[in-house]
Amino acid sequence: MRVLVVGSGGREHALVRTIARSPLVTAVFCAPGNPGIGAHAILVPIPATDIEALTTFAAANAIDMVVPGPEAPLVLGLADALLHQGIRCCGPSAAAARLEGSKQFTKEVADAAGIPTARWEAFTDTHQALDFVRRRGAPIVVKADGLAAGKGVVVATTVEEAEAAVIACIREGAYGAAGATVVIEEFMEGPEVSVFALCDGKNALFLGAAQDHKRAFDGDRGPNTGGMGAFAPPPGFTHATQELVMESIIRPTLTEMAARGAPFVGILFAGLMMTAAGPKLIEFNVRFGDPEAETLLPLLADDLMPALIAACDGTIADIALRWHPEASVSVVLAAQGYPGAYRKGSEIRGLDAASAGDEVSVFHAGTRAEDDRVLSDGGRVLVVNATAPSLALAISRAYHAVDAIDWPDGFCRRDIGQGHG
Ligand code: AMP
Ligand code: GLY
Repeated sequence: MRVLVVGSGGREHALVRTIARSPLVTAVFCAPGNPGIGAHAILVPIPATDIEALTTFAAANAIDMVVPGPEAPLVLGLADALLHQGIRCCGPSAAAARLEGSKQFTKEVADAAGIPTARWEAFTDTHQALDFVRRRGAPIVVKADGLAAGKGVVVATTVEEAEAAVIACIREGAYGAAGATVVIEEFMEGPEVSVFALCDGKNALFLGAAQDHKRAFDGDRGPNTGGMGAFAPPPGFTHATQELVMESIIRPTLTEMAARGAPFVGILFAGLMMTAAGPKLIEFNVRFGDPEAETLLPLLADDLMPALIAACDGTIADIALRWHPEASVSVVLAAQGYPGAYRKGSEIRGLDAASAGDEVSVFHAGTRAEDDRVLSDGGRVLVVNATAPSLALAISRAYHAVDAIDWPDGFCRRDIGQGHG
């Protein structure tokens, strides 16, 4: 099979490396990719959001399957355009990708399917929203309905904070059109866990659970980021928890989406709060997590391709995947200043020494090549993963590799894997 992966980050590096190892695969392309991905795939200089160019390339190059990494091309209809050409896409249609694009839509699906989630209401009118906040009191959670680059959520500890969030969102347009509707939710408490399932529109296969670290600095301080690290398995996440999440959250979602004429195909990412009353849905994403993909894929003991094919062909119920029963830790190396302003173009050395040994992988997230040098080219620049029989050993292996990387312009958290959410 000839496979095209779409995207250019650490998640896509992990996907490409996994797919390239499959005996079913004869050629792997990645658009646009990065220098790390270039070691396993032919790079194609098409941006991940250029749906027309991606579809034309896939058709002209006899691509059998496209695997999109990020959500943007899915929201823009990449899967629909490819299916129209008769090309498999392991990702949802634009209609099904609304599970990531609209929080109100997700809450409606959750309620219709009887999925445990925070009670909520949606508003487009500032006064009605403020009235609701005052009646409910704090803590309370105020969310922009649409995609707001991870910034549209305020967990308010006081009514004043919630009021300010409502006004910023609806009246002041802080998130543009994404904030024209505000979703106001009951506050939930508990550790957060990300669960991944590979879906074929009707059935789903568990792909693992992980915990990520969203804040920039140690001890869970500093601004929110795209993720500074992740580890698996999450503490206390048993086989029974897995079954409960698949039965109470993932499968009912697939049934409800199919009933709405928008069956979900691809990787469904459920962000969960493990509350005292059991796992509850915070949000869905319609793709693999980053750096969760870099954390879970190194644990895979089987070929992923038959499962990706089965997801596209509606036969995921026939697939079982084996996983190494080990711990996995991923540490993100980011440019100084991220998630705010940062420099690009500084040289990174020591990558070969860092990735020595089977248990360690260095995934490129934001790099470019110049002559024989690797230069930083983004906010999150590298993702260093290590696996081991215990979490403690995986952590020490990962940081040992991090310390072998010579990049004075970068920083990382030193407490990945230690249970801060
Ligand atoms: P979201 O973008 O919906 O995933 O929300 C971002 C973050 O806000 C989540 O990862 C949680 O930490 C927090 N959050 C979202 N919804 C709630 C809620 N109902 N109760 C408490 N925290 C929440
Ligand atoms: N690590 C969280 C995400 O991929 O959205």
